[in-house]
Amino acid sequence: MERIRVFAPATVANVASGFDVLGFALERPGDIVTLIRSDQPGVRVTAIRGDGGRLPFDPAKNTAAVAAGALLEAIGRPFGLDIELDKGMPLASGLGSSAASAVAAVTGANLLAGSPLSREQLLPFTLLSEEAACGSAHADNTAPALLGGFVLVRSYDPLDVVRLPVPEGLACAVVHPHTEVRTEDARRILHKEIRLALAIRQWGNLAALVAALYRGDLELLGRSLQDVVAEPVRSVLIPGFDAVKAAALAAGALGCSISGSGPSLFALCADLAAAARAGEAMKSAFEQAGLAADLFLSRVNPDGPAVLDEETSPNQPASGA
Ligand code: HSE
Repeated sequence: MERIRVFAPATVANVASGFDVLGFALERPGDIVTLIRSDQPGVRVTAIRGDGGRLPFDPAKNTAAVAAGALLEAIGRPFGLDIELDKGMPLASGLGSSAASAVAAVTGANLLAGSPLSREQLLPFTLLSEEAACGSAHADNTAPALLGGFVLVRSYDPLDVVRLPVPEGLACAVVHPHTEVRTEDARRILHKEIRLALAIRQWGNLAALVAALYRGDLELLGRSLQDVVAEPVRSVLIPGFDAVKAAALAAGALGCSISGSGPSLFALCADLAAAARAGEAMKSAFEQAGLAADLFLSRVNPDGPAVLDEETSPNQPASGA
């Protein structure tokens, strides 16, 4: 295979109580990365579309190139790569934009190399790219983008992630207000230590959230979508936060919180119709607060990345031939 195009989805990280340890994948939006095998060693970013000219072409800074380059290095640099990036989601939005590009890139590079590594083994390379993007190697966007569904990060050292079940029909509204919050900044303002009383509330909610996913218990899921650690600090960066969250809950959402480091908010809902009602209410609330906003509706995506098409060299037999 000479060329491959891979889609990787946006993700909602933290999911209220799971700061840095829980995330889930959306069906849309997402990024598309095209990888073209090259005889010239190393990784080059040759085109970036849909970013308004803002993402770096430098392979040491571009998340797709960092992740794919680290993977190629680990498997003995069998070939070089030219990478084209089609951004399908806003930057600095809390939707896991850098993670989606990195996941699509490592998935494609691994396939071009004949799949020497399993999907799980690709995860460490995506952490290097998160570190390059925002200075912190968190996995709660890249793990669900790579593995699909809800993924819990049990441990970072050693890296140990756990896929969780997705209740039937569970859907999400993500509303992205037209303002930006850089993950780096949203992390800097967090308290480095928290009181025991807060920790008890947070881990009670997180454990109950996991139980709710296993039981398919949507009421318990809704009760568990509470964040007493990051949300109270970060919500001040999001104009209209309280009104938007209240609008989601009044419209029937199971729960609502900040998507990743914001400024997008997500609402988990029993089905797509409920997500549409909650999403419209959230969008209106942002508009009343003076911010235009985009609404993304999606089921939880159980699959993660998807190969869009592949191209073999005309000089090589197709596999199996
Ligand atoms: N867990 C990370 C944070 C996700 O909240 O900073 C960033 O998208």
